[in-house]
Amino acid sequence: MQQHRFHPLMKMLRTVVPLGAAVLLAGCGGPAGFGTGKQTTIEPLTQNAEVVQHIYALVTWIDIAIFIVVAGLLAFAVIRYRARPGQENELPKQVHGNVLMELTWTIIPAIILIFIAVPTWSGIFHAAHPPTEGAYTVEAIGHQWFWEFRYPDHGVVTANELVLPANKPVVIKTRSVDVIHSFWVPRLSGKIDSFPDHVNQIWFKPVKIGLYYGQCAEFCGTSHANMRFRVHVVSEGDFNTWLQHEKEPPQPTSEDAKAGQQLFVTKTCIACHSISGNPMAVGVAGPNLTNLSYRTTIGAGILENTQANIVQWIRHTQSIKPGAKMGVPQEDGSYRPIDMTDQEAAQIAAYLDSPPGPAAGAAPAGQAAAMTTGGAAAPAGGETAVSLFQSKGCIGCHTIPGVPGAVGKIGPNLEHLMSRPTIAAGKLKNTPENLHKWISNPKAIKPDTLMAPLPMTPQELDTVVAYLETLK
Ligand code: CUA
Repeated sequence: MQQHRFHPLMKMLRTVVPLGAAVLLAGCGGPAGFGTGKQTTIEPLTQNAEVVQHIYALVTWIDIAIFIVVAGLLAFAVIRYRARPGQENELPKQVHGNVLMELTWTIIPAIILIFIAVPTWSGIFHAAHPPTEGAYTVEAIGHQWFWEFRYPDHGVVTANELVLPANKPVVIKTRSVDVIHSFWVPRLSGKIDSFPDHVNQIWFKPVKIGLYYGQCAEFCGTSHANMRFRVHVVSEGDFNTWLQHEKEPPQPTSEDAKAGQQLFVTKTCIACHSISGNPMAVGVAGPNLTNLSYRTTIGAGILENTQANIVQWIRHTQSIKPGAKMGVPQEDGSYRPIDMTDQEAAQIAAYLDSPPGPAAGAAPAGQAAAMTTGGAAAPAGGETAVSLFQSKGCIGCHTIPGVPGAVGKIGPNLEHLMSRPTIAAGKLKNTPENLHKWISNPKAIKPDTLMAPLPMTPQELDTVVAYLETLK
């Protein structure tokens, strides 16, 4: 009779245990494992990741020992002191208080905690103190939902694919522009949270050339799981070549790519995306697209980087990455794709995938001159304020009354602008001179602003400010 009572439980265990074990082991990855080892912590490839793995293994073995002792004592007590036939109504001897036992179960865990705490502290200090010699800095800035990577020593900004030279310690300084994210490349280092308005740092020294997978490790909204990134550890020579390319704009050669270059401006992509060496493309709300042809993926690690996938991404962003802040912002906070045909999207893709090269006859000074004289980089003169708001990309971020398509939500709504005493979130008095100052170089006034310094001629700037002055 008694044996029968156990049957359903045993049956359930027979299903649940192997299933649970399979799920647990899937997390272990490894070359033959479910996860193919892409984001495993148990095969560390830097000293820093080894420190983390060492603490993890130590705690795991201590836990296993505790489990065996506790479960063993429990099983012993259950079997040894079980109710035997005829004892059903007998109350066992009642005990209250036992100094020896209480001391034992306080002192033993305290000793165990010391064994865990010492290596943990030492690991925390190790991770927090980069070597002072030869280390260089990369800034990792979390955005909903992509990573911006800056190389301040080289003046280079990129996104979603970090390129690091082998055998050089790198200090990752991370922060966020919106909510809390977390920077994590399991095989290279521990995690570090990215906060708004606070910089955290972690360091590691990659030693093995190869591709590593990273992931935002803090829930940060709809597409948290789609906030992936890659780390390419390359030779020093390859790193320097890459840095060089990062300073150069894509060089469109085909007719399609050249058309794409124009569309990138007229379709207002420039309001959110930067491309080095391209004086029109200076947006910072979206990923920097310089040297995109180098990257293996688009959409923060979501799709392989092919021109066909770029078209899909531009045309159907929301179905690929729910919530992505790409396209035209809507009243309800959602985004719809920018109006364009598949062919136009393909031309933009051809432009973005063009190999980088030195900007044709345009040193930065030459570009600045072209901008201020209304040269090749700026549209022909005689434009109305409304068309300037559209062509310069202001509509990508601002809602502006009277300007079709200006329903952007990233920047402040400009309705009744003249009723406000200040601009730039209180940094400047609201005067026409200050509007000029703010629009021509927002970062000089507010270094962290997402507002892009859109290139305009003085006449264009006058036209835009005059229009803003009418927003009473
Ligand atoms: Cu960013 Cu999760």
